[in-house]
Amino acid sequence: MNPKQAAMPFLKLLFSNPRGILKALLRHTKEAYRANQFKGHTIKKIDILDVVDRIDEEVSSYTYLDGTSRTMDIAFLKAVCRKYQKCNYLEIGSWRGESILNVASVVDRCTSISLSKEEMIEFGLSSSDAQALNFLSKELPNVTHIEANSQTYDFDQLNNKFDVIFIDGDHSYKGVKSDSINALKLLKDNDSVIIWHDCGFGMQDLRYESIVAIRDACSEEQFEHVYRVSNTMCAMYTKRALTPNNSGFETLPNKLFNVSIKSVKMN
Ligand SMILES: C[S@@+](CC[C@H](N)C(=O)[O-])C[C@H]1O[C@@H](n2cnc3c(N)ncnc32)[C@H](O)[C@@H]1O
Repeated sequence: MNPKQAAMPFLKLLFSNPRGILKALLRHTKEAYRANQFKGHTIKKIDILDVVDRIDEEVSSYTYLDGTSRTMDIAFLKAVCRKYQKCNYLEIGSWRGESILNVASVVDRCTSISLSKEEMIEFGLSSSDAQALNFLSKELPNVTHIEANSQTYDFDQLNNKFDVIFIDGDHSYKGVKSDSINALKLLKDNDSVIIWHDCGFGMQDLRYESIVAIRDACSEEQFEHVYRVSNTMCAMYTKRALTPNNSGFETLPNKLFNVSIKSVKMN
């Protein structure tokens, strides 16, 4: 393939949705700049097995396509949610529905707030990305889908408080900060928690932009309760007394997980 041919898909996309692509490019450049700006900030770390005693979860209907949480993140969410008697769960940014579908099997009620198809395209996502909205979760009886921009949505109209809030929408500084400020007001009680996705680029590092956005959304006292969770891409706000530690973040493992994968063909 010569360079001209290689550029074709990008050019086609550019002509089909020029405003969206330019917006996405601009956003990406700003994000790269900010990520560098925030470098060096830090956060307490916690071993996943200090948060939940064990992980023994099945992750189903997983696509192994881009844009979703990792299986471990979903297993962690399930393990956290099943600690509540009748868990009321809110997810900001659900897209295809992999995380919410899995959580729905262990909670009482789920609410999803995710951009509508039209808004996704306006934000520079492709029409096939938009088509995939709620693909896995649309039929679930205990999931309420709200198609909205979480940065402009009036959360008061939910008239609801939540045990577990999962933030996985707009990962820019502005997006994470805004979602975090809203989420902190929507916690049901002192046992309620917030879990943020994309607080690392991998399992052991920090995505500084997210961490700083969370810190800026929290009071000093609230940020004392925020931890980067080992073996996941998540951070968590919890008022439980936990002892921060680096175990689980080292290259030499302190635990192992067994994974079993089974394919299911779709028509
Ligand atoms: C990474 S995907 C979510 C993946 C899903 N939580 C999972 O693990 O399978 C992010 C989603 O957030 C949505 N999103 C981005 N910005 C948003 C905003 N401001 N308000 C609501 N949803 C947003 C995107 O449209 C996309 O559906």
